[in-house]
Amino acid sequence: MDLVLVPMRWWHIETIAALEPTVFATDPWSAELFWSELAQGAGRRYLTVFHGESKFCGGSEFRGGSEGSADASAHTGGAASIVGYGGLAVADDGAYIQTVGVVPAMRGQGIGARLMIALLRHARQLGARSCGLEVRTDNHAARALYARLGFVDIGMRRGYYQPSGGDAYVMRVRPIDTVGYATLLDDIERALPGRARLAS
Ligand SMILES: CC(C)(COP(=O)(O)OP(=O)(O)OC[C@H]1O[C@@H](n2cnc3c(N)ncnc32)[C@H](O)[C@@H]1OP(=O)(O)O)[C@@H](O)C(=O)NCCC(=O)NCCS
Repeated sequence: MDLVLVPMRWWHIETIAALEPTVFATDPWSAELFWSELAQGAGRRYLTVFHGESKFCGGSEFRGGSEGSADASAHTGGAASIVGYGGLAVADDGAYIQTVGVVPAMRGQGIGARLMIALLRHARQLGARSCGLEVRTDNHAARALYARLGFVDIGMRRGYYQPSGGDAYVMRVRPIDTVGYATLLDDIERALPGRARLAS
């Protein structure tokens, strides 16, 4: 499995917004929300994961899915498609996972872990000492992933998810600015199946 993680670009948004209802059965984000997140600039880091026979031109040149198709092949002549995406906010020494999702057919192959590792490394580069997130209380797959990355429960927010009204656990990992945490990320990544690279 060949994966490329590239910085999310505006031309990915239409495809990602089309995928959202299948990735998030409840409370999917709108295209406008992704637009607004990307507009935040340096305080945000969003990544798109492509899978397949790729004709990547350094990542940033890649314009897969600009017509709203979940399959980018129409735009590349190849067969690369968006299989996941995630985003991080960083302010001062704290980072926050805004969203992370993998298309259902590609789950359980380490894509979620690769996204989280890339986002956490970025948070470290920006000087973050901790990283937080919210997760649905019944989201066992996500909670397993976050626990492996060192996140622990620090609270609960009732009715956090809207419009569904679902409850969330607040999870946090710290410190992430240590050699030990960098090693943990490296070790988890090394054990993942397939190959992946981060394009600039
Ligand atoms: C959460 C999500 C991003 C994980 O993506 P993924 O590519 O499947 O992640 P990985 O393959 O790296 O593995 C995730 C972990 O979930 C575990 N897992 C998978 N399905 C599971 C299930 N039904 N119950 C419990 N754990 C499960 C895996 O075993 C793995 O844990 P492990 O490494 O300790 O074995 C993906 O399930 C998803 O997109 N879910 C819907 C969107 C969502 O809920 N996002 C998180 C919002 S907070």
